[in-house]
This record gives sequence, structure tokens and C-alpha cells, in this order.
Amino acid sequence: MNDTTFLYRDSDGGIDLYCEDMSVADIASQYGTPLYLYSKNQILGNFRSFNEAIKKSSSNSYVSYAIKANSNIEILKILATEGSGASVVSGGELIAAIRAGFDPAKITFDGPGKNNEEIILALRSNIFAIDIESIQELSVVNDIAGKLTTTARICIRVNPHVDAKTHPYISTGLSHNKFGIPFEGAFEAYRIAKSLPNIEIVGIHSHIGSQITELPPFVEAAESLVEFISELRTKENITFRHINFGGGQAVDYHNVVNHPLLSNEEKSEATIPSFEEFINAVLPILSKTGCTINIEPGRAVIANSSAIISKVLYTKSNGEKNFVIVDAAMSDLMRPSLYEAYHEIIPVKLSNHSSSKTFDVVGPICETGDFLAKDRKIPIAERGDLLAILCAGAYGYVLASNYNLRPRAAEVLVDGNSARIIRERERVEDIIS
Ligand code: LLP
Repeated sequence: MNDTTFLYRDSDGGIDLYCEDMSVADIASQYGTPLYLYSKNQILGNFRSFNEAIKKSSSNSYVSYAIKANSNIEILKILATEGSGASVVSGGELIAAIRAGFDPAKITFDGPGKNNEEIILALRSNIFAIDIESIQELSVVNDIAGKLTTTARICIRVNPHVDAKTHPYISTGLSHNKFGIPFEGAFEAYRIAKSLPNIEIVGIHSHIGSQITELPPFVEAAESLVEFISELRTKENITFRHINFGGGQAVDYHNVVNHPLLSNEEKSEATIPSFEEFINAVLPILSKTGCTINIEPGRAVIANSSAIISKVLYTKSNGEKNFVIVDAAMSDLMRPSLYEAYHEIIPVKLSNHSSSKTFDVVGPICETGDFLAKDRKIPIAERGDLLAILCAGAYGYVLASNYNLRPRAAEVLVDGNSARIIRERERVEDIIS
């Protein structure tokens, strides 16, 4: 993985943060703050690392970008042009995928609650497969396909009851989670699917969770899938050609930008498996089935390419707490409030003279849960300073809201020494009219 997207460069005036070859301060002064910033070349580098690793193991296997992580149409176009498949979870994402140019033959539709209109759209768009999450959904898809006089290609999403050892809100592969069908029920689902006139079984799907920092849960899930597929073959004589193994590959939120003037207290020792290590661990297991393998990473394609750039509005101390109040908020980045997630926060300008202090970095929203970092040692910030909240582009904008009637921020894409706006800042008028 290329980790040089955000780097400090020394100049006469100080030490400045760059995104690729663009000064972050210059971008902020041109487009305003708060601002989502993305590096095109890091996104490409991430996707290519996955794609090359998977192709090396199995040439007809492929990567599908999970659009839910970031659905900006310009980012989707970059990945569609690279030949990525797409994993979508709503009619909106499906429309965006098609508009961005993803090949429908490489689009899958996941999610436990597709409505009739979404199923019709998926069938009319002739996508590769609908991933079925319940026996009731199977019957609805069969009925709708019959009415449209077509055949629905499906995978059954199995729930392998594997602990992904991640935050409970983003763990999906345990039998008490709402996702997929546990193995016993999945046998029944495949038996029913085989008997339905408007269903074609093309494969199996599984996704055990997100931000999975160790390989063993993936290996356990892969092994149990292979065993299940073999039992389906021997007991039910059901065979298929495709395994969608889901996403969930973790990113390192703690070791993004290093500089001697930054505090090292929060750096973590833990090493996150590389794409290659992930592929080398699971592909040999899954390939035994002879199926094509599809993985659907979202976060790992986007996160380290991105940051939110935010301006310090005020600083203050309440009792023992020091606060930096910035112009970004939980409405721009929900992850800290929702999952107590960690995002590295660094100054856009570093100074040899600055000392560090412990702060809560908070937004302007009238809610105590509106924080971006708690008890964080950062170089002392003053009103008007710019801060970069790193890795904020995966599950950043897509989870943004208009809470407190705050317009959503603009998005800017850097490519080498140029930057362009890829979504305009919302105006209050857009929201209230
Ligand atoms: N495939 C399926 C079926 C999924 O449900 C997901 C994510 C992915 C792929 C992509 O997972 P990734 O590679 O990005 O981990 N809002 C949370 C993450 C929720 C993920 C939901 N499903 C967060 O900010 O951490």
C-alpha cells in the first residue's frame, strides 16, 4: 500500500501538509472548510493492490467496490474505469453504479431489506446477482421475476456464525445478527431455490463484518463456506460457480501520518494484514471449490486516500478539559460518535516551536456526543488553524446529515498537482426549499 498521500513538506514558511502534490492549506483557502479531500492516485493504488493480488491467485476472480463506503459519482467513475465490479445495497446505489459505468454483469445487490421497486430495478438492469437474505425474500424475488417474465440470478447470503472480533455494530456474521441465513436454514433455502421456476442459483455470499483486523476470522469463514458448499453438492446435488466473500478488510487508523513533531502516544503496535496477506490466506481455501471468487472491499479502497479539513473556530477550557471547537461535526463524520472510532487528527501547518497539549476536538452541534476525538494530544491549536481529520472519506460523507440544519460539506479530488471539486458544498437554500 502506498502511504504517502498525506505528507509534510518543509518550506520557508514552515512545515506544510500536502495531499499528493497539492498544499492542503491552498485547497482549503480555495474551497472553504469543512471539506472532504480525496487522493485519486491513492484510491487507484488501493484498488490495484487488491486487484493484482486476487488476479495473481485466480485469474478470473475479481474485486467489487462496496459503494456504501463512498458513493461520490466521480470516485465511482474512477473505479468503474479500472474494471472494478460493484456491490450495492439500495436502488440509489444501483442507479449510481450504472450511471458511473460499472458493468452490470459485475454488480451484486446485497442487503436484508430490498423493497419491490429495488428488486424490479435489479432484474431490469440485468445485474450479475441478487444476494438473498431470507427465504421470504427468495419467494418475493421469484414472484417478481415471474411477473417480469425473466429469471433472477441469485446467491444465498449465508451467516457462518463467525466472530469477526470487531465493533458489535459492524459485526454481521454471527447468528444473532440480522444478516444472511445460518447454515441449517441455508440448506433449506438452496433446496427451495432449486425448485423455483424463476430462480437461477449462481453462487453463495458471505460478509462477516467490517474493519476486521485479524486474518483468523476470515480463514474460519472461508473454511466453513467450503465445507457447506461440499455438503450442498453431495447431499443436495446443488452446484454453482461463484463465491462472493464480502468485504471487511481493515485499515490502519492509527499510523497514517508520521512526523517527529507529532505525538506518538496514539500510534499502535498492531499490524493490519495487507491486501496480499488477506488474499494469500483465503484464496487457496476458497479456490478448492473451482468457483470464481469475488471480494467486495469498501473502506480499504477509500479510507487512507482521504481526510476532512476543518478550521478551528474557538479554543477553551472547562475545568480540567481543554476543547478545540472546529467547524466539522458529527454531521460530517459520525464514526467517533457512533462507534467511538479513532481518527488521527493533525495540523495542516506544523511549527518547530509548537508544543502539544491534550484536547477534546469537538464540533459546533448542540449535543455532547458531537466529538471527533477525546483526550487527544495534538500540537496546540489556535482560532483559524486548520486540522486534518484523517481516513475520514470512507463512511464519512455517506453517513453525513443535515443535523442542526448544517449544509453538507464540499468534496475535492486531488490528482497530482491539480484539484477539482467533485461535489459542491450544499447551501441552506438547497435543504429548506
Ligand atoms: N459487503 C457487504 C455485504 C457489506 O455489508 C459491507 C459493509 C461491505 C461489503 C464493505 O465493508 P468494508 O470493506 O467497507 O468494511 N459504517 C461503518 C461500516 C459499516 C459497513 C457495513 N457493511 C463504519 O463506519 O465503520
